[in-house]
Amino acid sequence: MQEAAQATRERPSQVDEQVVNRMIDHLRGNTTDMAGSELRIPASRFTSERYAAAERALLGRLPVVAGHGSELPAPGTFITRSVLGSPLLIVRKADGAVAAYLNICRHRGAQVETEPFGAKSLFMCPYHGWSYEREQGRLLAVPFEEMFKPFDKSCNNLRQVDVEERHGLIWVVLEGAKDLTSWLGAADRHVASFGMQKSELYLDKTFDLKINWKLVLEGAIDGSHVQFLHQGTVSNFIQNNACVWGDYGRHGSLIMARKKFALKVREGEEIESAWRSFSSNLYIFPNTMIMAAPDHVELWTVWPSAKDPSRSTVSIRFLIHSDKLDQRMRDRMNMSWEILENAALNEDFPAEEGIQANLAAQPGTSVLYGRHEIGCQHIHRQLASEFADHGIDPDA
Ligand code: FES
Ligand SMILES: [Fe+2]
Repeated sequence: MQEAAQATRERPSQVDEQVVNRMIDHLRGNTTDMAGSELRIPASRFTSERYAAAERALLGRLPVVAGHGSELPAPGTFITRSVLGSPLLIVRKADGAVAAYLNICRHRGAQVETEPFGAKSLFMCPYHGWSYEREQGRLLAVPFEEMFKPFDKSCNNLRQVDVEERHGLIWVVLEGAKDLTSWLGAADRHVASFGMQKSELYLDKTFDLKINWKLVLEGAIDGSHVQFLHQGTVSNFIQNNACVWGDYGRHGSLIMARKKFALKVREGEEIESAWRSFSSNLYIFPNTMIMAAPDHVELWTVWPSAKDPSRSTVSIRFLIHSDKLDQRMRDRMNMSWEILENAALNEDFPAEEGIQANLAAQPGTSVLYGRHEIGCQHIHRQLASEFADHGIDPDA
């Protein structure tokens, strides 16, 4: 089983020779990558409605992953979904490119398309029949048009949203636009290395949680809780608190080693293809995690609630290369899902819900991140830096 897994796995670009050597040094010396200092964050960052509103304003101006390209399998297909509280209609155009519109009728605001997915060239609002075409969202027909005269249809097209399909993912910016390549910066080639444009969705699960979105992300990028919270489960095979942090500017990567590998290193054994014994979690600021599993890619997007700082929605998708998908792979991925579901639903999420409830009970207190909690620190430091860059004062 293990050999079969190794045969299908490709080396993640984040785990280069330097990373491998750094990990070996950590395992030998009982060390880990560290931030320059510890970090204290007010509890209110997880509970304040005002702060949450500022976060939503910021996230609305950043590229976020709204879906995977395989959800729009052919020209003419569409999906609808809410992203950060905004209803979107995302379509694949005749030339194969992707367009995105606000799914809000320019007449009186109804949802123009109510189906979650499908294929259409024309979208007719179910309320009073205004119709919009797919390619540019142009308003084509208005029943009782004379009642609106003088009326310029070209001023009432669907509102366009900035969208780009890159590395197999559909990225949107709700307000304004961003150059995605420069936004991804040093992380761009790492996202590319997962080959997600050749993949399809195998599994797509969504959980509504009573947890601030940042706590959910922290749980997925915390290298020192495995031994304790996941005792007898994940800790059986992942080494605690020996982490390499890949710094890609606003994005980053938390790399950990398998326990078996740690043991071999400590026993002085020579190890070939050491990278196979590593797990890597690529964090794309603000709310996406991409993890390489032996056969598939695990994609997490964590969404703050549009109203309540103590709630979020996490979407977990498994992506697999279409040509690898046979029954054996299905079985393996189902097993992976069981392990993940067990750890997340029975261990991580309940602990994070407890933290959320405690912080809400004591919003005047603070939480503390040690130097070794470098991934968690990164989320908060980056958030502060993006607020400053976008001229948003979250405490105003
Ligand atoms: S609200 Fe869409 S046609 Fe009236
Ligand atoms: Fe965990």
